[in-house]
Amino acid sequence: MRFEVEKAKPREIYNLLIGLVAPRPIALVTSMDENGVLNAAPFSAYNYFSTDPPIVGIGVTDRPAVDFVPKDTARNIRRTGEFVINVVTEDLAEQMNICATDFPAGVSELEMAKLETVPSELVKVPRIARAHAALECREHTTLEVGRSRIVLGRVVSIYVEDRYVDPAGSYIRAEELHAIGRMNGLGAYVRTRDSFISIPRISYEEWKRREQG
Ligand SMILES: Cc1cc2nc3c(=O)[nH]c(=O)nc-3n(C[C@H](O)[C@H](O)[C@H](O)COP(=O)(O)O)c2cc1C
Repeated sequence: MRFEVEKAKPREIYNLLIGLVAPRPIALVTSMDENGVLNAAPFSAYNYFSTDPPIVGIGVTDRPAVDFVPKDTARNIRRTGEFVINVVTEDLAEQMNICATDFPAGVSELEMAKLETVPSELVKVPRIARAHAALECREHTTLEVGRSRIVLGRVVSIYVEDRYVDPAGSYIRAEELHAIGRMNGLGAYVRTRDSFISIPRISYEEWKRREQG
């Protein structure tokens, strides 16, 4: 089947892309407005884009209203320039989902999800206490692309609970962290528990040896 992008409805394109660009990591983003009111929401249009400097990005689609309006997360980041990405693991999945609920204005997602926060190291926005890892970010750039905002953040501090850091170095014990990923929408997620496969990189020399049998 072939889909003609020009003729397809935005919703169809969304469904296709989130099903094909999967699994995706999930950033549970905490942000703050200019009055210090906290906000939390998950974003799976999320990845890192460079490590030197360390840049991560989230794609925030405007909310369809009478007019299209930016979601609180994008608006807060634009106004205060800071946010924290809390890594979503199995034990945070239900709370993360509650944070995606469209609560009326003035209702705190964090309170509804019964999530407490603790101060961050370098940014004013706190991290979620129960998150096993968090990236403190300062806004690098926000690109306005159609009805979306692509927020690029520079990571300024990284928190990881000790038990998830390999004592031999700065590797993350990802097999134990149990991060989850988002699949094709429809409430579908993927676990990373007991599902690792190992495919070591090979040198050109090694590749030639294998080809020659
Ligand atoms: C797992 C998950 C991933 C999501 N990813 C995105 C995303 O990448 N971009 C987006 O605009 N909305 C995404 N959403 C929807 C937002 O979380 C939702 O619109 C939220 O209410 C926005 O909150 P805010 O207005 O407080 O920023 C996602 C929801 C879930 C449950």
